[in-house]
Amino acid sequence: MTLSGADAFDVSRLGMRSLLDSEIWRALGEHHALVRSLDLRTLFANESDRFDRHSLEACGILLDYSKNRVTCETMGLLFALADERGVPEQARAMFQGSAINRSEGQAALHPLLRDSREDPLCEVDVSMRACVEGSLQAMEDFSQAVRSGAWRGYRGDPIEDIVHIGIGGSELGPKMVCRALAPLADGPRVHFVSNIDGWALLSTLGHLSPARTVFVVASKTFTTQETMVNAHSARRWIEDSLGSEAVARHFVAITGARRKALEFGVDPQGIFDIPEWVGGRFSLWSSVGLPVALAVGMPVFRKLLAGAHAMDRHFLSAPGDRNMPIILALIGIWYIHFFGSQTHAVVAYDERLDRFAAHLQQLDMESNGKRVRQDGTRVEHPTGPIVWGEPGTGGQHAFFQLLHQGTPLVPVDFIVAAACDHSLFEHHRLLIANCLAQSQALMTGRCEKELRADLLSSGADLDRTEALVPHRVTEGNRPSNTLMLERLDPFTLGALIALYEHKVFVQGAIWGVNSFDQWGVELGKKVAGSVANELHLDVSSEKAKAIFQDRDRADADRDASTAGLIRAWKERAGRARGDP
Ligand code: F6P
Repeated sequence: MTLSGADAFDVSRLGMRSLLDSEIWRALGEHHALVRSLDLRTLFANESDRFDRHSLEACGILLDYSKNRVTCETMGLLFALADERGVPEQARAMFQGSAINRSEGQAALHPLLRDSREDPLCEVDVSMRACVEGSLQAMEDFSQAVRSGAWRGYRGDPIEDIVHIGIGGSELGPKMVCRALAPLADGPRVHFVSNIDGWALLSTLGHLSPARTVFVVASKTFTTQETMVNAHSARRWIEDSLGSEAVARHFVAITGARRKALEFGVDPQGIFDIPEWVGGRFSLWSSVGLPVALAVGMPVFRKLLAGAHAMDRHFLSAPGDRNMPIILALIGIWYIHFFGSQTHAVVAYDERLDRFAAHLQQLDMESNGKRVRQDGTRVEHPTGPIVWGEPGTGGQHAFFQLLHQGTPLVPVDFIVAAACDHSLFEHHRLLIANCLAQSQALMTGRCEKELRADLLSSGADLDRTEALVPHRVTEGNRPSNTLMLERLDPFTLGALIALYEHKVFVQGAIWGVNSFDQWGVELGKKVAGSVANELHLDVSSEKAKAIFQDRDRADADRDASTAGLIRAWKERAGRARGDP
């Protein structure tokens, strides 16, 4: 199976058919019954070439998936499943710009944002390609102008600080990349404000000079509450200090809603587009990546795009059994469905990747946290995992206890860069040692016999030994992948992010869900708006008067808990500000 030769996507091929009714699924179930008690230690003992067979390299990333509870037969069945579920056709449809996001009638063309003229993968018309190139050029011009000092503040000062205001996909990707590439940063300092909590904005602005600060307001819709509230407060901060004429010089916008950005006061030249066919969590490659270009320069940003493009090519052209995103996706499905794993840990042994798990959370959980298929029918099986993680080695002293001895089976992705990019090589050697040691320990564990012998030889008496053994036994047989990057550079980082994008896509394709909409988030936004309407302390305001006049009605419309909490907040907030 390769993806590049696939036929056009035929939605009806999947139709209402449940994954669970498929022949291959049944075969996988029978196979699982035979192999579920297989131990990783036995698999390694019986297969001297297991590492070679179950590892591969692409785009500067080595993936070792040998420490998984799979055999060659397991993988063969899983590859057949991907084929049967139309993964090749669905991937091709994505690269052709078909409206695979059916509930929103949209394409999901993020690969076009990193496509190359010389080596094109997306089959789209020239005008779309020209738009993408135009956007990249606009980013280049602006970032270059700020970095060179040609773009100055309203009073003629050079720009020293950028405050990026955005949330979700309009923040997580660029923030993660800025932190990952921080050692290469040679432009203005870039800060990120996403939380509506006023501390987020205040603590950032506290250190900055308005005359030397540019705000980048990133919001595809330009309506997201957190972003707009932060943007308006930031605008007041500029106006109070520099006057309202300064706004156009100190604010730029990244958005799909040009008119709204103009109304806010952004200069037409300062508006960078987000195409409608890019979802928030895939928008890093669009002008949402502007803070990255500001921090490290556009040539570096283009290397990030090149790495992602290389992974796109790998995804489309490598056969299934040498295809990294497909392998990661299938192994994930194996654990979710057949071992009941509900969560997936991502532990990057690299301080620069401290926001990588946060980015993956949105990418995976917003994409595949779905309960119906594309056609609206309900899925009868689990879909996306709960993705979580923290960088190693800190995680070892926090949640690894559960990974080693807890009752849930949590598959882990370990990510580490081989090359040391700093001067403290001894730190790096020990970092690598910890990473490799954890995956080994999860797999091998420590058996009763060995522990008993150790305890007795260290002088413990028989009673104490027997009392301790059950606490200290670590059963092992816990699975993990290790992704070893040649080095954490822009190219490899781009490839790594795209790898996970395609992994998530493949899983969604197999489950038949729409990985590109996010309707579930909308309800929370709507309710937040209506609760906010009731949270007025100033009873003299017209809005508050209208609400308070009909307080009983307001309470009656709410569940008793939320109504009680609203009352409790009003009493306490009133007391806190000294109301009688
Ligand atoms: O939280 C839902 C969501 O729509 C995300 O998908 C998106 O990344 C985020 O909000 C921000 O949206 P916007 O870019 O429109 O402000």
